[in-house]
Amino acid sequence: MTTTDDDALTGARPIAGAPFGWEVGIDLTAPLGQAEKAALARIYRRDGLILFRNQSLTREQQQQACDIFGPALRTDLDNYVVSNVEEGGFLGKQELLFHNDIPYVPAPFLGGSLHALEVAEGAAATRFASALRAWDSLPEGLKERIAPLQALQVRGHLLGRRTTLADLGPGDPCAVHSVVGQQQGTGRPYLFVNIDMTACITALPHAESDALIEELFAYLYDPANIYEHGWAKGDLLVWDNLAVQHARSETGNAARTLRRVSIAEYGYWEQVPTDMATHQSLRDMEKAEA
Ligand SMILES: [Fe+2]
Repeated sequence: MTTTDDDALTGARPIAGAPFGWEVGIDLTAPLGQAEKAALARIYRRDGLILFRNQSLTREQQQQACDIFGPALRTDLDNYVVSNVEEGGFLGKQELLFHNDIPYVPAPFLGGSLHALEVAEGAAATRFASALRAWDSLPEGLKERIAPLQALQVRGHLLGRRTTLADLGPGDPCAVHSVVGQQQGTGRPYLFVNIDMTACITALPHAESDALIEELFAYLYDPANIYEHGWAKGDLLVWDNLAVQHARSETGNAARTLRRVSIAEYGYWEQVPTDMATHQSLRDMEKAEA
């Protein structure tokens, strides 16, 4: 690996033991110059995953850090705490299969971030799968076959398996997106199907759709294409929510409290204003935090 100017400016190096992703040596509580921000944005685009360690950030500081990579959402309901111990913590303890966040709306989040506020020994890791590398690894014939296809993305029902058309209920949000996306800022292709919320590939019979999706998963979720991040207090991970997927196992009881800030042009509530059930559960969570 050659050390570029960006690496020298930010102390960037590949995350140890990871197949992709970059760790940088930057203190995000100190003011950053434009050159450093531009370097961080370029490093982020290499793999769509960047790690800062030993940070102690307020929510506003986390949002300002995310702004380096795209506009951070600042609405209360789009920023929340993921926790298995805090009363009202979001997402509880259950396993979360690999997914992109909210692929079932017209404009899914561009990026996500998690900042480790409290992490006990044995806290569940977060796993990341690169949809950029997955695309790169496909045989040419498969690339050509899927290039024109689209998939129906639906809100996952947390079934421990892929949510399909048969699982949907009235009012479940869904959206159609291309199976092959293009990374923002680089145009590099990535696979946009996931094992949680991709119901089917449109324009294909169900059996053929299922078989093709499974074939793509073999590349996406190949263990060689997965980075498992064991959390330490102070970690901040920022990832491209479209080009990189995330997952976790059941959290168990080891304390794990992560603050979530998302990067997006459009918030969830702008896109799904009718989803009152989720709205209410997040409002309840806010009350519990207050
Ligand atoms: Fe998620």
